[in-house]
Amino acid sequence: MTTPLTEYGTAAAAPAQPEDDALWWRSAVIYQVYVRSFADSDGDGTGDLRGVRSRLGYLKELGVDALWFNPWYPSPLADGGYDVSDYRDIHPAFGTLADAEALIAEALALGIRTIIDIVPNHISSAHPWFQAALEAGPGSPERERFWFHPGKGEHGDEMPTNWVSNFQGDTWTRTTNPDGTPGEWYLHLFTPEQPDLNWNHPDVRAEHEDVLRFWFDRGVAGVRIDSAGLLIKDPELSEVPEQVAPGQHPTEDRDEVHDVYRAWRRIADSYEGTRVLVGEVWVPDAARFAAYLRPDEMHTAFNFDFMSRPWRAEELRASIDLMLAAHAPVGAPSTWVLSNHDVTRPVTRYGREDSSFAFAKKRFDTPSDLELGRRRARAAALLTAALPGSLYLYQGDELGLPEVELPREVLEDPMHFRSGGVDPGRDGCRVPLPWRGTAAPFGFSPPAGAGEASVSPWLPQPADWSALTVQAQEADPGSMLWLYRLALRIRKREHSLGDGAMAWLPSEPGVLAFSRGDDVVNVTNLSAAPVALPEHDRILLSSAPLVGGLLPPDSTAWLHRAA
Ligand code: NOJ
Ligand code: MG
Repeated sequence: MTTPLTEYGTAAAAPAQPEDDALWWRSAVIYQVYVRSFADSDGDGTGDLRGVRSRLGYLKELGVDALWFNPWYPSPLADGGYDVSDYRDIHPAFGTLADAEALIAEALALGIRTIIDIVPNHISSAHPWFQAALEAGPGSPERERFWFHPGKGEHGDEMPTNWVSNFQGDTWTRTTNPDGTPGEWYLHLFTPEQPDLNWNHPDVRAEHEDVLRFWFDRGVAGVRIDSAGLLIKDPELSEVPEQVAPGQHPTEDRDEVHDVYRAWRRIADSYEGTRVLVGEVWVPDAARFAAYLRPDEMHTAFNFDFMSRPWRAEELRASIDLMLAAHAPVGAPSTWVLSNHDVTRPVTRYGREDSSFAFAKKRFDTPSDLELGRRRARAAALLTAALPGSLYLYQGDELGLPEVELPREVLEDPMHFRSGGVDPGRDGCRVPLPWRGTAAPFGFSPPAGAGEASVSPWLPQPADWSALTVQAQEADPGSMLWLYRLALRIRKREHSLGDGAMAWLPSEPGVLAFSRGDDVVNVTNLSAAPVALPEHDRILLSSAPLVGGLLPPDSTAWLHRAA
């Protein structure tokens, strides 16, 4: 056991929120920490909270306002921690509750807020509630917190519905009764290790409200809500119709779900400082998506429309217009997201012939021109940082890490296995970060002591990541890391950036030019030819050097013009 860096044993010691900035979330830059792959302090090959604490200086220097942590709770890790077995503690491989409290406080002391991940749709099959439900048997009150159901057919051996899992395959698993006979089925929209909770049950609501308070009491500034559109199911267990009318899908985006978030908003608003709700809402209809952001519901939600679009000017422009128009009536700011722990890294995606993103399209061995992808990812970084609203940055994107084609034998992601091995899954964007040095683990884990064998990182890092380490990039003003640091510094300094309005400027085809306030202009060139820049008095930043005064293809410039 090592001694804690600092100790905050109880919630009573929870640090105060910064007072002066009630609207922080409207412009914030939020850095997503995938704890398992960020930094490993104890040399077991798995990232941990002490690893994050030791790198807070790096995050401060990068210029982020908040950290969003993927689930850090005790979990069998059947789905990377989205299978929670205790919502009020920390996974032992990541540390202790005291470590989390210390981390929250130390980050806040640097002006960095903490957002945690709440997983309300399902729990781990190892959670005491589910274990109790299995044990108590059919008809028991313990089972009412879930979706247990007799099977169809004479012997009950057919699934209650034919709903398809978000991870492909079946959504029902049959149980075995305590006496060994085949029993009821239970619903899981994801893996069988993630049984869905029944949100019509008062225990389920009360439990999650208490979990929210538990973490708000410890100083967290917000929650990211996993699978937020899925909580309510049709109690009639209807099949998915061919044409789904709004709100009529049996498991997605049902109108009753909004009551849950209204209740959560009241809890968030009862705390000092602005505590925010950020939704993971995969709802394609922009107006239905925005309904989650009404003033008494969530604060913001991830903008997946923009993230999913290909690198084409008319597509990105249409998405920007669509999302800003959808947000306007509810008064919420949009978010801008290039990736996260579920999707293909931008450097790889933007270098592909088809640069759009969809889970269903993921395949092994999809070629990518990484040099092109890196140019575009740099341009996209500035473009998204210039758009109105808040910005999400997934760890490693500031280093321009590509998606890693991992050998099949190291893959862990259930999306891979449930696709019958066709989908490479999401491990390729979850590879541990390279910090320094010329060989794996690149400073992710501490060097092995004399006579000790070193433990490899939980996923292998490519040998050529020596060029992508933080150390290597700090020494190179042309690096992705420098671009992000400069961009975030300028974004904070120029008050026209962040929250607010934007206006399109006339531009050539294939160019996205818009102004922010009176004095800042963004120009992104997605055309095949260099373009002239509109009037300006200086260039604030550009993702690639200008050529003969022109902005080259696949690059962005930020301009300043006299107000
Ligand atoms: C969305 C999360 O981002 C993803 O990683 C997870 O597998 C599913 N929700 C299920 O919790
Ligand atoms: Mg560790």
